[in-house]
Amino acid sequence: MPSPAPADIAPPDSPPAATAVGVDVRGLSRRVDGRLIVDDISLTVAQGEVLAIVGPSGAGKSSFLRLLNRIDEPTSGTVLLQGRDYRQIAPRILRRRVGMVLQTAWLFPGTVAANLRFGPAQIGRSLSPDEVSALLHRVDLPGYEERDVSTLSGGEAQRVSLARTLANEPEVLLLDEPTSALDEETSRAIEQLVLAINRDSGATCVIVTHNRPQALRIAPRTLYLEAGRLVALGPTKDVLDAH
Ligand SMILES: Nc1ncnc2c1ncn2[C@@H]1O[C@H](COP(=O)(O)OP(=O)(O)OP(=O)(O)O)[C@@H](O)[C@H]1O
Ligand SMILES: [Mg+2]
Repeated sequence: MPSPAPADIAPPDSPPAATAVGVDVRGLSRRVDGRLIVDDISLTVAQGEVLAIVGPSGAGKSSFLRLLNRIDEPTSGTVLLQGRDYRQIAPRILRRRVGMVLQTAWLFPGTVAANLRFGPAQIGRSLSPDEVSALLHRVDLPGYEERDVSTLSGGEAQRVSLARTLANEPEVLLLDEPTSALDEETSRAIEQLVLAINRDSGATCVIVTHNRPQALRIAPRTLYLEAGRLVALGPTKDVLDAH
């Protein structure tokens, strides 16, 4: 009997494989003090997709993002990561697989290299000087190993923050207004970097932004949230035109 073809080598005339679901959000809610700040959200994000989240201040964008890596606990619903319920994944592992970058870079006092080494060290892995250097090249900060983080500009700090997240080789990158504290030129550079990371590593990206032109530039699809609820989800231009 002939052995079956390896699953990853499709015959040339076969239809394209269905897009893999990277993040499957199922009825996700969070109730705080009797109020639903995230209200029964369900959606799927394809592996490798860039999804933007927009909505008014207080809509629950950050709260929703924080449920996606279980920094906050859903009061109902769950998330499947590559088909697996994330409650079955140890939080420490989950937060490596689903990395988060915030508006203001959150770095430890000390050198850039020490910051990059921290995440891998948590699982007993010591980054080699070449690996640190490669991460810094990845975010366009070659030679920054020994810089003290207190001397970095906002844009540089945000790059280090990204590199630190990338050191964990995440499959999903959550970004909460990563450019809103930066000037236009620096924002654009960070945007390009996020897109390059998405392209090169295939990481799924979910990015909260107040910057509508930014959503249009980087995300084919956008989720519009209001009062914790999913109001619209579709092609970015359509969603932004309607809201
Ligand atoms: N830990 C908490 N305890 C109580 N209420 C909270 C908590 N975190 C968020 N909220 C409330 O939940 C709602 C959503 O907040 P969230 O920060 O998620 O909004 P957002 O869309 O990210 O807003 P912004 O655009 O200003 O960042 C707000 O009414 C906020 O006050
Ligand atoms: Mg927010």
